[in-house]
Amino acid sequence: MFLPNNIMVTGGAGFIGSNFIHYLFNNPDFQGRVINVDSLTYAGNLENLTEIAASVGEKRYFFEKADICDGELMEALFKKYEVDAVIHFAAESHVDRSIYGPQEFIRTNIMGTFALLEASRKSWAGRKDVLFHYVSTDEVYGSLGETGYFYEDTSFDPRSPYSASKASAEHLVKSYFHTYGLPVTVSNCSNNYGPYHFPEKLIPLMVANAMEAKPLPIYGDGKNVRDWLYVEDHCTAISAIVNRGVRGEVYNIGGESEKNNLEVVHTICEVLEELYPLKDNPVVKEVSPGLGAYEELVTFVKDRPGHDRRYAVNCDKIKKELGWSPGTDFPSGLRKTIQWYIDNPGWVENIRSGEYKKWLEKNYDSR
Ligand code: NAD
Ligand code: DAU
Repeated sequence: MFLPNNIMVTGGAGFIGSNFIHYLFNNPDFQGRVINVDSLTYAGNLENLTEIAASVGEKRYFFEKADICDGELMEALFKKYEVDAVIHFAAESHVDRSIYGPQEFIRTNIMGTFALLEASRKSWAGRKDVLFHYVSTDEVYGSLGETGYFYEDTSFDPRSPYSASKASAEHLVKSYFHTYGLPVTVSNCSNNYGPYHFPEKLIPLMVANAMEAKPLPIYGDGKNVRDWLYVEDHCTAISAIVNRGVRGEVYNIGGESEKNNLEVVHTICEVLEELYPLKDNPVVKEVSPGLGAYEELVTFVKDRPGHDRRYAVNCDKIKKELGWSPGTDFPSGLRKTIQWYIDNPGWVENIRSGEYKKWLEKNYDSR
């Protein structure tokens, strides 16, 4: 078992990265240090880690506001903290934004990964007791029809600037294993959901909008399918790969929980009605007193260009070889998630009022 001492988590102030840091410090087997490297883009939010900064203290948790594209700085951080594992989450992660402006995706996702790989190669100089783990996505495999699955050896067929940038970086990561012998692992994961999820992505957007009686925009016919994974299960999968995964290998991670978007939104409305009934919702009472059900907020809007129809990963490999499986089913994961958003209106308000608001005003009207 490989238990790193000094883990550099890139993008640790984002959705999955911050959940991963919580997961590490909640795990008594982990006695090492975490160096959270994040440039705090619109998606980075240190509020996600307030408890960690307070409870773990200054000996085991460090935050470095830094851009992963700055190779010299990355090398300096490797040295400063004697980094022996990188879990690389930092990225521009939203498909819609990659359509409106792909440049930052190319810079951070490709050039940033390259800079980190170079820093690892130079700093580790042939060491084998180290690891670079790249958090990739099932979107690199393209789009499925009604049947079939993505396997680890499915050919890449990315269709958005986001997925193309992730695929490109994944190729680079694998090339460093073959060319330089850099110890790497890669995971290709399906759609995550859970606490601290930025409310521009489907599930948190629908929950936050419904709570504020705003329209719930469904792209196209709403029949696009995603495989949903509770974020904590993603964290346990990454931990299994870091500790027991074969170097140079790729592992698919999925929730085995395929749903089309209309089903997801319908379930959100049902659960919200139970946990936060319309009659007790002060915003609804004020702005939309005639609303009979959250579902009435559903609005069909223009489709996303190049909208992938269906994603579904086969994750037999990680199940058989590393003994991992998703521990949370969709109904209970979604319930926990919705309850978290009900309990944390301030978090949503803070994150929605800054850069995100400006971007929406420029690019969208309906939200
Ligand atoms: P996110 O957008 O919530 O967080 C990304 C974080 O990276 C932010 O904190 C941001 O400030 C930081 N960042 C961006 N550019 C940076 C730069 N140049 N330097 C340093 N930090 C920078 O993303 P997420 O949803 O948490 O996704 C994390 C990773 O997981 C991404 O690599 C994404 O491709 C991958 N992934 C996400 C999902 C999902 O469903 N969210 C599924 C599969 C894979
Ligand atoms: O599959 C893994 C990927 O999942 C990750 O690599 C990405 O980082 C992550 O953002 C996510 O990508 P998607 O494009 O699948 O997620 P998103 O939440 O943007 O959209 C999910 C589905 O919901 C998709 O079919 C588009 C649709 N959608 C989305 C939004 C934001 C809507 O119908 N309306 C919306 O307002």
